[in-house]
Amino acid sequence: TGCFTYDPGFTATAACKSAITYIDGDAGVLLYRGYPIEQLAKNSSFLEVAYLLMHGELPSKTEFEAFDHEVTHHTMMHEAFRTFLYGFRHDAHPMAMMVGMLGSMASFYHGSLDLEDAEQRRLAAIRLIAKVPTIAAACYRYSIGWPIRYPKNNLEYTTRFLHMMKEVPSEPLELSPTAAKALDLLFILHADHEQNASTSTVRLVGSTGANPYACVAAGVAALWGPAHGGANEAVLKMLSEIGRPENVGSAVAKAKDKESGFRLMGFGHRVYKNFDPRAKIIREMTFKVLDELGVNDPLLDVAVKLEEAALKDDYFVQRKLYPNVDFYSGIIYKALGIPTEMFTVMFAIARTAGWVSHWLEQQTDPEAKIGRPRQIYTGYAERDYVDLAKR
Ligand code: CMC
Repeated sequence: TGCFTYDPGFTATAACKSAITYIDGDAGVLLYRGYPIEQLAKNSSFLEVAYLLMHGELPSKTEFEAFDHEVTHHTMMHEAFRTFLYGFRHDAHPMAMMVGMLGSMASFYHGSLDLEDAEQRRLAAIRLIAKVPTIAAACYRYSIGWPIRYPKNNLEYTTRFLHMMKEVPSEPLELSPTAAKALDLLFILHADHEQNASTSTVRLVGSTGANPYACVAAGVAALWGPAHGGANEAVLKMLSEIGRPENVGSAVAKAKDKESGFRLMGFGHRVYKNFDPRAKIIREMTFKVLDELGVNDPLLDVAVKLEEAALKDDYFVQRKLYPNVDFYSGIIYKALGIPTEMFTVMFAIARTAGWVSHWLEQQTDPEAKIGRPRQIYTGYAERDYVDLAKR
């Protein structure tokens, strides 16, 4: 009761106005600030896309250099983070560590943080984009017992991250340009996606005036679930379990059986009902990257057969379920030598650019209000307290 609409899952509710990202789910269109994702994927870099999302325009050469310089000079994390990191269990999931580490950033940047000051808000966004890869690499290295690496600021954003993650002291790291370029492209495709669950979470927390690092930590928590960013990890586990192309038929049958509780991971999307344009780009890229890196992954055959079988099946056709961004991304991460547990962390690094852009937009939106959904109450009507002795 009451004059509001029941909309579980917000399938028909716009909670804000935004000029950042446009999606046409029926036509398979995705634009960042008006630029088609296909053009950005082909011509841009992740850091340039981060600038675009944050500022609304592509940077000039000088603007980009200044942005790059600023991000590069905020990549270090405070040494006290080490103590914090070393408190996690050695086998903690890297996403659990990410939630904790990002939340702890709020304790480093809080007291003097004035959210009314545009420059301080901008700096918070820069710090987040700059430090998230450093934190992600540290979480990974801690999880495998390797010493943490400092960011090498003579490298560009994505290569610097790969370096921090993989470098071993006595062996100079040969990073293939194909690997860095592939990861950068995946970062571009994951950078923003309007009001998805994690971005809406960042905005909901942001609507209360909370510390921006805490807002992004909340976004990371929302991203972790297998229905959202955790799907990339779940896809790879699913493909490994299916194991061989011959087993694809039974996996499809199981996904159609509601009793099984099993869904085809990497399939379906709330908004895309025709195709996911990111999946189209990633699919093409998977074959190219594996070929260039000389990787022969039998799971790619499983993925191709699974996609083929599902796309022919009435159940998936009728429900307009297509491969989404996460269906092939894991195979590329695997080919780049990134372990499965780190897949969703990769997503978080990229999506940080989107989260901070939405947070910045919200902070100056004159129509923004505290997010406060209503509910349909289904509990008891008023009743009297009963003494313990009488219960
Ligand atoms: N496998 C089997 N059946 C499915 C699947 C799937 N992957 N996805 C949806 N369905 C069925 C669902 O059971 C329902 O059937 P029915 O109408 O008979 O009840 C129908 O399709 C509609 O599904 P829904 O759950 O109402 O749709 P939604 O918009 O609430 O959920 C989704 C979207 C992405 C959570 C869902 O498709 C899903 O769980 N997919 C698998 C997880 C996944 O790949 N997530 C990544 C999403 S893209 C990247 C990101 O956002 O992070």
